[in-house]
Amino acid sequence: MVEYDWRPEQAVKSLNRILPEVEKTFADKIGQAPDEWHKFKNRLHREWERLFIYLHQLYGWQYDFFYTLQRILNTLVRYWLERPAELKLLDEKREADPCWFLSEKVVGGVLYVDLFSDNLAKLDDHISYFKKLGLNYLHLMPLFAVPKGDNDGGYAVSDYRAINPDIGTMEELSKLAAALRDEGISLVLDFVFNHTSDEHIWAQKAKSNHPDFMAYYHTYPDRELPDQFQTYLREIFPTVRKGNFTWCEEMKRWVWTTFNSFQWDLNYQNPKVFRAMAEEMLFLANQGVEVLRLDAVAFIWKRLGTNCENQPEAHTIIRAFNAMAKIVAPSLLFKSEAIVHPDDVIQYIHLDECRLSYNPLLMALLWEALATRETKLLEYSMRHRYPIPAGCTWVNFIRCHDDIGWTFDDQDARNIGIDPAAHRTFLNKFYTGENPDSFAKGVPFQFNANTGDVRISGTFSSLAGLEDAILKQDSELIEQAVRRINLLRSIMVSIGGIPLLYIGDEWGMMNDYSYLTDPTIVNDSRWVHRSRKRWNAREDLTDQDTLEWRFFHETVKLFDLRKKLPALQNGGMEVIHTGNPHLFGYLRAFKDQKILIINNFSEEPQTMDAVHLNACGVKDDVMNLINNDVLSSGKDLVLNGHQSVWLDIS
Ligand code: GLC
Repeated sequence: MVEYDWRPEQAVKSLNRILPEVEKTFADKIGQAPDEWHKFKNRLHREWERLFIYLHQLYGWQYDFFYTLQRILNTLVRYWLERPAELKLLDEKREADPCWFLSEKVVGGVLYVDLFSDNLAKLDDHISYFKKLGLNYLHLMPLFAVPKGDNDGGYAVSDYRAINPDIGTMEELSKLAAALRDEGISLVLDFVFNHTSDEHIWAQKAKSNHPDFMAYYHTYPDRELPDQFQTYLREIFPTVRKGNFTWCEEMKRWVWTTFNSFQWDLNYQNPKVFRAMAEEMLFLANQGVEVLRLDAVAFIWKRLGTNCENQPEAHTIIRAFNAMAKIVAPSLLFKSEAIVHPDDVIQYIHLDECRLSYNPLLMALLWEALATRETKLLEYSMRHRYPIPAGCTWVNFIRCHDDIGWTFDDQDARNIGIDPAAHRTFLNKFYTGENPDSFAKGVPFQFNANTGDVRISGTFSSLAGLEDAILKQDSELIEQAVRRINLLRSIMVSIGGIPLLYIGDEWGMMNDYSYLTDPTIVNDSRWVHRSRKRWNAREDLTDQDTLEWRFFHETVKLFDLRKKLPALQNGGMEVIHTGNPHLFGYLRAFKDQKILIINNFSEEPQTMDAVHLNACGVKDDVMNLINNDVLSSGKDLVLNGHQSVWLDIS
């Protein structure tokens, strides 16, 4: 017998009880915009049931649950009232076209404001540069107030409503958001909601033993519980410190710190934390942020006896945030940053949760195939791991501000005869240059002596062989590196999803070892690819004899081409059989446009035979859209070393 679900009815009842009170509180303001209020109420009624259910799952057992509901509704109305008129217009526009970000026209970029232009004010002068590149999605790395010295590259936030004074002010940020919006560029920011810095006002109050604020974090008087938890936990930054708890002398208690000791994990079992962070989220949305990158989603709920990653409540929290955003700021989208096992990554991708997700598996496997010159793991994994729910999309990247971890599935590897552990060891040796045959100049990140695990830092160009080739002053090796870079970029742009350019890669930024002389970051090799140097290379972009110019123009050319091909919008991506272990191919299609993309991961020319081509629908003569070469039907196709072709087989 199906059990009666009392929740929908109770959801309606509680809304009917609470709403009149809230309407009374805000009567003046609501009275000024009756039509708008009507629209808001429609959204509220539409989303409330699921919000109620999520909140009940999280906090229903607490005696003051009805109070939590009241406060949440109050928050919703308050932040909606504060939402600027132009953003309400944007909400309407997005509601009329909710899948806008699936378009082939959408191309993203990500940068650190301080490294790129020193501050927000100067960033404004570079909007034309973003336009020249063809970007319409711009992610600014964390720029909030943070502790001086090491602050994990901005991921230890002391105040979500204040910008780091070296970078600018909140007013400048919302102005910039408006300026970008006027140019058709959506602003993307991080929502670092797993932890705050230990200088956040909540942490400071906790340190002064204020019980309400101690309850914002996970704190323990002794090692009893931390030791029980620790048995199951992964260490994220093992070279920096041991264990996931930090002793706080002021409080005389242990604090849960998944990442660095100055990053205190928030306690979402406390409904006040949920509401306070929901308010920070809505505040950011009201500054004009269109996409929030949900940082470190995997870690937000703790459960004894588990590794405290990807717990069901983590999803419930994000869905509850999502429902609140849909009511107050319906144009806001979430992108999940789950750098975990691919089975877990996919769980965050849902219309009601995160419609965008980083694609760490594709990123890692592109580097894997570049090292092995073989595509079987990439091909096998993408065949069954690429599909995600309709209306959602991947954000594809080659490099970002973080390290590369080999997050492929062990069983996937075994199924095609690869020993996963030995393969990871090979890849680590390859990318840290320990392997004498390697072209890559990577730097190890977070070597864990207990597990032997390590991850890789380094820029796109340095990992693809350019740094080594330039050091050797070998023009053939330089050309090979350029071809590797073009190959990976081509896949990022065409495979389906939003391509995300790590700004600097458009002109071939290489490793910068100066972090080794800075004591605050010397232990964090990720700074090798967060370079402050050589940004003036942008000025070389007019000199056609430079590599920088070539990279820039190849990047722009590919972005432009993508925007002309509806088949490259989000949607079907079908991995094809190429019949050659060095080739990786896929079909992209929309309506009557069909494009077959084939990529050669070897330095040597490789052939896809006519039989396999024919099986993919190559019937007549077809054109390679990248260089307008024509391929005769019925013949084998020979790809040059590291060549990528986009064949129009419509
Ligand atoms: C995310 C960020 C990473 C940071 C961590 C802790 O994984 O990408 O740079 O160190 O969260 O906030």
